[in-house]
Amino acid sequence: MAENLYIPETTERVEIYEAVIPQIEALISSETNLIANLANISAALKQAFGFYWVGFYLDNKSGELVLGPFQGPIACTRIRYDKGVCGHSFSTKETVIVPDVDQFPGHIACSSASKSEIVMPLFDSKNEICGVLDVDSDLLDDFSELDKVWLEKLLKVLGDKI
Ligand code: SME
Repeated sequence: MAENLYIPETTERVEIYEAVIPQIEALISSETNLIANLANISAALKQAFGFYWVGFYLDNKSGELVLGPFQGPIACTRIRYDKGVCGHSFSTKETVIVPDVDQFPGHIACSSASKSEIVMPLFDSKNEICGVLDVDSDLLDDFSELDKVWLEKLLKVLGDKI
C-alpha cells in the first residue's frame, strides 16, 4: 500500500471524503496493529481536512477513557465516562455533534481554539464499545450528518479489525 495520500484540490468536503476514506480503509486493511492504524487514521484526517484536532480515546475498563493516537495540540489524557463530549458519546454509544462547544454542558476544553466537535463511538468486532474518535474544529458549526456518515463508515471498517 502506497504511503502517499491523494487529496483532491477542492473545498467540497464530500469530494474529499469520497477520495480519502477508501484510501484510509486500504491503508488499515493491510496492517493488524491497532496503534499503527489509529495513528494513521488521525494523521490522514488531519492532513486531508485540516481539522484542529483528531484523535482517539480508548476505554481503560476502569471508568475512564485514556488518550490514544492523535494529531494536534496536546490534550487531556483521561476522561471519565460521565465527563465531556467524549464521555457522553461513549456512555450513550451514539455519535454526538456539538455545533458550539460553549453550549454543551460539561464540555472539556482542551483548547480555547476548539469551537465545534464531533465524537463517535468505536465498536470492536464483537460490537462492544472500546473507545471514541474525537474530531475538533476551530470553526463554529463545522460538522454535519455528512461527517457522521463517512466517519462512522470508517470506524466500522476499523472496528471489524479489533
Ligand atoms: N472536548 C472533549 C475533550 C477532548 S479534547 O477536545 C481533545 C470533550 O469534551 O470530551
